[in-house]
Amino acid sequence: MPTPVTLISGDGIGPSISSATVRILEAAGADIEWDNQYAGQAGVAKYGDPIPDQTLDSIKRTRIALKGPLETPVGEGFRSINVQLRKTFDLYANIRPAHTIVKGGRYENIDLVMVRENTEGLYVGIEHYIKIGSDPRAAAESVALITRVGSERIVKYAFDYAVKHGRRKVTLVHKANILKYSQGLFLDVGRMVAREYDTIEFEEVIVDAMAMNLVLRPERYDVIVTTNLFGDILSDQISGLVGGLGLAPGANIGHGGAIFEAVHGTAPDIAGKGIANPGALLLAACMMLEYMNDGERANRIRRAFEETVREKKTVTRDLGGTASTDQFTEAVIARL
Ligand code: NAI
Repeated sequence: MPTPVTLISGDGIGPSISSATVRILEAAGADIEWDNQYAGQAGVAKYGDPIPDQTLDSIKRTRIALKGPLETPVGEGFRSINVQLRKTFDLYANIRPAHTIVKGGRYENIDLVMVRENTEGLYVGIEHYIKIGSDPRAAAESVALITRVGSERIVKYAFDYAVKHGRRKVTLVHKANILKYSQGLFLDVGRMVAREYDTIEFEEVIVDAMAMNLVLRPERYDVIVTTNLFGDILSDQISGLVGGLGLAPGANIGHGGAIFEAVHGTAPDIAGKGIANPGALLLAACMMLEYMNDGERANRIRRAFEETVREKKTVTRDLGGTASTDQFTEAVIARL
């Protein structure tokens, strides 16, 4: 029985990298029944809504989606696509793995995974202005909401991920020295959860030191777990350590389902030119295969992709080559 998966091709370079990814998965024999749906500008064009109910209904049915980048329309009245998806499916874990594919760069042996809390912290949207005297916007206040339940499930996710993927260490990143309550709670819960996993090493690092350590010695980190804002910032930093956006996949996972996507956006500067690198979305699709318990196939696709990248003969411009998206895709399929 093929597994049903919602496919949102996306905007800009989305359709071309999505079709490249689907072709490679099909060439590898993945047994998937794609349900094509629209969102972003494509959703606005077809249904007048960047996140149409049809798309949400499809994900409610399949519980798994592969999503190309979306252009969020700017303006009043439009629902934020990512917030809506995270809320609807309670996608509390944002996972971004990063490892060195091409040696000889600044870092030789990076192999780490960022596990970011995706639903709490400063992103809950509890914000307001404070009027002082005649100035209605004299001050502003944003609330960072951290819960015991939210902290426990994300730290547990990080440890379970470490166990499942044969990793050795979880590093919890925090700022509890200053934010003693919210970050303090996250750290306390993290320490408690860590005691349940005696085969995995646990360490705590303050976020500012972590930013520096990631530049100086990223090789020493393995699985990293942190709150929403710190995870947002550090995960982009980490993409930069391993060759940039064209190779950075991400997953949003919760009890209600899972959505896999590239970290990058719609790349309007190269859209329609046929030169986008499909790698990030392809690597996200490999995470999806793993999630579907088809890890062996995911590894086979990753090997074919990474060998093609390392050979440097048929790669897109962002990786230093001259190949088109189609030529790159063909080269990966030939290796499969
Ligand atoms: P971007 O990630 O689209 O582009 C940044 C730079 O990286 C550009 O020079 C682009 O050409 C290059 N790039 C990105 N992906 C590439 C690929 N696969 N192959 C080759 N080069 C690639 O970021 P930008 O320009 O800030 O955002 C453009 C649009 O994308 C905006 O509307 C933004 O809202 C949206 N966006 C959507 C995301 C999502 O749906 N998950 C994430 C980030 C941005």
